[in-house]
Amino acid sequence: MTGAIEKLLMETIGLDSASVGPTVVRQAVRDRMAACRIANPQAYREHLTGSPQELQELINAVVIPETWFFRDREAFTMLARHARVHKHAQPTKVLSLPCSTGEEAYSVAMAMFDAGFEAHEFNIDAVDVSTRNIALAERAVYGRNSFRGSYLEFRDRYFEAVEGGLRPSAAVLKQVRFRVGNLFGTRAIFGQEVYDILLCRNLLIYFNRELQDRALTRLKDLLATDGLLLVGPAEAAFPRLHGFISAEWPLAFAFLESEPIKAAAPTTAIPVRTSTPKLNKSKPVLPPRLTVGKENSAPALAKPVDQVSESLVAVERIANAGRVKEAQEVALAHLEKFGPSAQIFYLLGLVQDADGAASKAAQSYRKALYLAPNHREALVHLALLLRRQGDHSGAEALAGRLVRVQKRSGT
Ligand SMILES: C[S@@+](CC[C@H](N)C(=O)[O-])C[C@H]1O[C@@H](n2cnc3c(N)ncnc32)[C@H](O)[C@@H]1O
Repeated sequence: MTGAIEKLLMETIGLDSASVGPTVVRQAVRDRMAACRIANPQAYREHLTGSPQELQELINAVVIPETWFFRDREAFTMLARHARVHKHAQPTKVLSLPCSTGEEAYSVAMAMFDAGFEAHEFNIDAVDVSTRNIALAERAVYGRNSFRGSYLEFRDRYFEAVEGGLRPSAAVLKQVRFRVGNLFGTRAIFGQEVYDILLCRNLLIYFNRELQDRALTRLKDLLATDGLLLVGPAEAAFPRLHGFISAEWPLAFAFLESEPIKAAAPTTAIPVRTSTPKLNKSKPVLPPRLTVGKENSAPALAKPVDQVSESLVAVERIANAGRVKEAQEVALAHLEKFGPSAQIFYLLGLVQDADGAASKAAQSYRKALYLAPNHREALVHLALLLRRQGDHSGAEALAGRLVRVQKRSGT
C-alpha cells in the first residue's frame, strides 16, 4: 500500500522515498491514518486522492525540514558580493526555494545588509511545499537548533529575544515574503518573475535523476540570464549537466548561466565582513589565488600559504564546479602527497557520492569518521547514502550519533 502512496508523493513533490528511506514514508502514513482515524490503508489511499488537504498533511509529515542559519556560510558571503557587482537600478531579486522554516531566506537578508545593501535595494521570495514550514517561517521564532557551528556573531546583531526563542529584527523580517509552493507545481505561483539569485539547496538530493533534470529545467526558467544559482554541497554535479558554469568560489556551490566575470570580482569597496573559509576550527584555509578574483588581496587573507590547506581548497573548488571525476583524481593525489585526514576523506566521499560511486563514497565517509568521529558533515552524508541504499538501521544509528554530537557541542 505504501508503494502507491510513495508513487503519489514522487509524482506530486518529486520525493524519491529511497532517499529518505521507506520507514520515513511508512511512519508518516501511519501517523496520518491515526490522525484521520482511518484503519484501512486502502481507505486512506482513497481518502488521499479525494482530499488535497490530507495530501498536504502527508507532505508536511514526510518532508525533511533540516536547515539552520548561514548553512554553508560562504554561499551567503559570496552571493551578497555577487549581488553588489551585478547591482542594477531595480532591486535585486532573490528566491529561496525550498526555504523550509525560513533560516536560509533570513540569512540572505542579513548577508545583503552586511554587504551594504539598503532595504529598498533587494527583496527575497521564499517558497516551500510544506504549509507547516511556511507557518513556522512566518512566525520566525528560532531555538538553538537553528544556530549551529561557530560563526554566530550575526545573532547579537540581528536577533531579539522573544518568548520561546530568538526572532530576527523587524528590518530582516520585512525583506522576506513567504509563500507555499511546489517546485514541480504551476509556474503561475511565481507570476512573470525571474530572479537574479536563486538558492535551491539540499532538495535535489531527494529526487531521482529524471526529476533532478525536471527540477533544473524549472530553476533555469526562474533564473534571469546571468543569474546565480546556489545548490547544496552534494548537488554540485547537477547544474553543469544543464549548461551552468561554476562561479568557482570555494565552498559556495554557486553556478552562473554564463561565463563567470572574474575581472569584476568585488573586493575593497564592499563592507563585507571578511570571511576566511575554514575546513576545521584549527586550520584556516585560504581561497585559491586563481578563482576568487582580487579577494586574496584583502588584508585578513594575506597570510603565509599553507600547502595542505591550499591543496584541500583546490579539491573543493573542482568539486564545487561539479567536475567530479577530476576532483576525485585531485583528492587521491592529495592523499598520496599529504597523507590521510578526515577532511580529504570527506571531500573524496562527496565527489564519489556525486559521481554515483556509492560504496566507494561510503568507505571514504567512514574513513573520515574513523579519523574524526564527530565530523558532522560526514555523518550527515553517510546517513543519507545509507538510506538511499536501504540500510535504514545504519542510517538511524548515524542520525542518533549526529544528535549526540550536536547536543555535546550545544548546537
Ligand atoms: C532539507 S530542507 C532544505 C532547506 C534549505 N534550502 C537548506 O538548505 O537549509 C528541504 C525542504 O524542501 C522542501 N521541499 C521538498 N519537496 C519540495 C518541492 N517539490 N517543492 C518545494 N519545496 C520542497 C521541504 O518541505 C523541506 O522544507
